[in-house]
Amino acid sequence: MQPVKVGLLGLGTVGGGTVNLLERNRDEITRRAGRPIDVVHAAARHPDRARTCSTEHMRLEYDAFAVVDDPDTEIIVELIGGVDLAKELTLRAIERGKHVVTANKALIALHGNEIFARARDNGVTVGFEAAVAGGIPIIKAVREGLVGNRIEWLAGIINGTSNFILSEMLYAGREFGEVLAEAQRLGYAEADPTFDVEGVDAAHKLTILASIAFGIPLQFDKVHMEGIGQISTDDVAYASELGFRIKHLGICRREGDGIGLRVHPTLLPERQLLANVDGVMNAVMVNADPLGPTLYYGAGAGADPTASAVVADLVDVVREFTLEPENRVPYLAFQSHSLSDEPVVGMEAVDTAYYLRLEAQDEPGVLAEVTGVLSQAGISIEAVIQKQPAPGAETVPVILLTHRVRESKMDAACQAIEALDAVHGSLVRIRVETLA
Ligand code: HSE
Repeated sequence: MQPVKVGLLGLGTVGGGTVNLLERNRDEITRRAGRPIDVVHAAARHPDRARTCSTEHMRLEYDAFAVVDDPDTEIIVELIGGVDLAKELTLRAIERGKHVVTANKALIALHGNEIFARARDNGVTVGFEAAVAGGIPIIKAVREGLVGNRIEWLAGIINGTSNFILSEMLYAGREFGEVLAEAQRLGYAEADPTFDVEGVDAAHKLTILASIAFGIPLQFDKVHMEGIGQISTDDVAYASELGFRIKHLGICRREGDGIGLRVHPTLLPERQLLANVDGVMNAVMVNADPLGPTLYYGAGAGADPTASAVVADLVDVVREFTLEPENRVPYLAFQSHSLSDEPVVGMEAVDTAYYLRLEAQDEPGVLAEVTGVLSQAGISIEAVIQKQPAPGAETVPVILLTHRVRESKMDAACQAIEALDAVHGSLVRIRVETLA
């Protein structure tokens, strides 16, 4: 049986993991794909460096273009990360009639529309299961398993590094910076970890999930993005007292006039399954009609989980070698000519409940002034707690939970509360979702 010959771009954590996985489960993978899959040519930034995998049976060199241009390679696996060079290599592989498998969420979120159009023109497949939620086969589940359903919303913990940091803040009271350094050491964090903690990585993944859930073009620039940098251990503790956990979520939902795409810290009721996804684990909850909610949980980062998704795509490509392009599963789940132009709405049009924390003077009537602003705006309050002042402090922390309200109304109410003489500094505002 003639092996399928793969060219591998990038031999770092995920590249090494992929070579190891192809070797470790070679028999199983061959039985499933119908042919063995071999990496025959690879490119690495430092070809002479010690590796986590064997490079005995492959040509290894610095020049990634040589791997793409090698007439022997039939599938190119792009694992170099970054955007510009990755895009150039991907388009070149496509023009040479080669199928591509990538773990690069930034590449797909930013340039997927163009890449898929070029791949369609050239009759090749582009697999990107590894780009979202590491080892969880969420692309396959939404694109194929839920194909009979209309997706209503999808909410996920899709950045392992942020989840790891929030979990450590809650359970171990550890400092943000210390936990982030550990995530970098363990290979979870992006090369630029601000992508993890500022929500960019999650926004890349949400862009992809939203497109396959709703059949809309990839629109990274429309995602509302907030990271976990503003979350304090106080907020984690107060939320916990109120029966909630703070999670960094990516949410896409039909919002009446369009689709809302947002990534931000969110209070979830502690009984909610997603609220109990801790450490570096990822999970995505999908609410579909008529199926109802389903939950997909697993390791979202690291060598083995990501390699598992890369190999799944490789096997799919091999199985589809002989299929006519029009019979393959569409890149974004819906046929390319059937993508919808449903608009992505801004945050002002999104409805959600809120956790508010403010520092107020401890005087008669102050709480009434604050709740008066909310009541005038028609915002209903679910809970209020006032904490003891810190030693020597002039103000006390006040925490409010509201019912659901249109975000534009809440923006105006927050401005009015911050303008009160008795309220010091800015409000902390975190959205609350029950996912009921
Ligand atoms: N930096 C990412 C994370 C890796 O922490 O989830 C997987 O995309």
